[in-house]
Amino acid sequence: MLKTEDNALLCHVGPETPMGAVMRRYWHPVCTSAQLPTPDSDPLRVRLLGEDFVVFRDTEGRVGMFDELCMHRGASLALGRVEEGGIRCLYHGWKFDVTGALLETPNHDDAKYRARMKAPAYPVREEAGLVWAYVGPRDREPAFSRYAFMDTKSENRAVIRININCNYLQLVEGGEDTSHVGVLHTNMARPGWKDKEFQPNKDVVNPAALATNDLHPELELEDTEFGFHYVALRKTDEPDVRNARVVPFVVPYGRVIPSPAFSFFVFEVPDDDTHTSTYIVIYGDAPVEADRVIELLGLDDKRYYNRETCLFTATWADSFGQSRKLMKDSSWTGLVGVEVEDAAIALSQGALYDRSKEHLVPSDRAVMRVRRILLDAVKGLSNGVEPPGVGMDLTGVGACDASLRAGQPWRELMPGHRPLKAAA
Ligand code: FES
Ligand SMILES: [Fe+2]
Repeated sequence: MLKTEDNALLCHVGPETPMGAVMRRYWHPVCTSAQLPTPDSDPLRVRLLGEDFVVFRDTEGRVGMFDELCMHRGASLALGRVEEGGIRCLYHGWKFDVTGALLETPNHDDAKYRARMKAPAYPVREEAGLVWAYVGPRDREPAFSRYAFMDTKSENRAVIRININCNYLQLVEGGEDTSHVGVLHTNMARPGWKDKEFQPNKDVVNPAALATNDLHPELELEDTEFGFHYVALRKTDEPDVRNARVVPFVVPYGRVIPSPAFSFFVFEVPDDDTHTSTYIVIYGDAPVEADRVIELLGLDDKRYYNRETCLFTATWADSFGQSRKLMKDSSWTGLVGVEVEDAAIALSQGALYDRSKEHLVPSDRAVMRVRRILLDAVKGLSNGVEPPGVGMDLTGVGACDASLRAGQPWRELMPGHRPLKAAA
């Protein structure tokens, strides 16, 4: 369990909060490139860490991000016109380029005034089908952290955004909780469950396909430069061989989940305290079909997901679409798809779960470590210590699902994860 004060400390991310201050030390995904599909396409309202912004792509394809409200008298720039190298406010026609430079002020014909003023434009980068931004203190802007998926052919990568109406930590904890995979995702992890017979799932794309039927994996954890990583060790039919799944936690909300052929990089970006944008980048050595991934996540069902708005739409109004009939026949949860199951569970905990009432067991150790590392980051920053991994090169971060012989150290599986002590 977590004390109510610590729960609030971890979950509240607004501008004046301690966790909000930690989060503002990092670059964040703010939308997908596909949401700004063409030069001069429609601008997008973006909510990040409890604040509102506008993002747009100019005539030359460059992306800009400002505070949402126009610096003149506060009309929303998300209603504006994107044209001829900038975004123009509808109210009095002030026009800005992607750097925030004031190009035109039709109701105030004064070039000197325009030269003096600048809209609050934030640093942005477009990488791997995502737009990333930094909204923290100007004098603290870190180097942009690169991941391995940024250096691959675009056909070997797919990017999906899902907006889920609950606090980010519920989704992070679900992602760092390996022991739920063989239960919540029973249909995909243990396809023979109905006949009480384990048959491994042969789908090389599915991250919920488990190699073994062991429902209580042994966990070992280690702090790293970027946060921590842990291994879930599961028994196999061979006495000297265990299945090892290594999953990292990248402060403040990142993880990588392995599937046999691909890696799922997941970022649970807080829009505010009760809304999260989940970005999933699937990447590997072979082409990835976004449609195939959408299907295995269960997001091809229109009851659950709107591909235009990226919104996860299921609610209690229809019990998240759960089918009691399917539960009797073929689906262990009555839901279909990995993300549908994960998101429905996170939403079922409420918009912001009160962890003071829970009862943790040893298989929740990775969840406990997430909290400890984030609380340490909050306390550290309040004492002037920068949080872990800010500005770090993250190209060595990944996940794996492998067979481990007796005596073989699991840490060797991920040589790119440097333990914290080696970094000191
Ligand atoms: S409020 Fe934007 S131009 Fe006046
Ligand atoms: Fe899951």
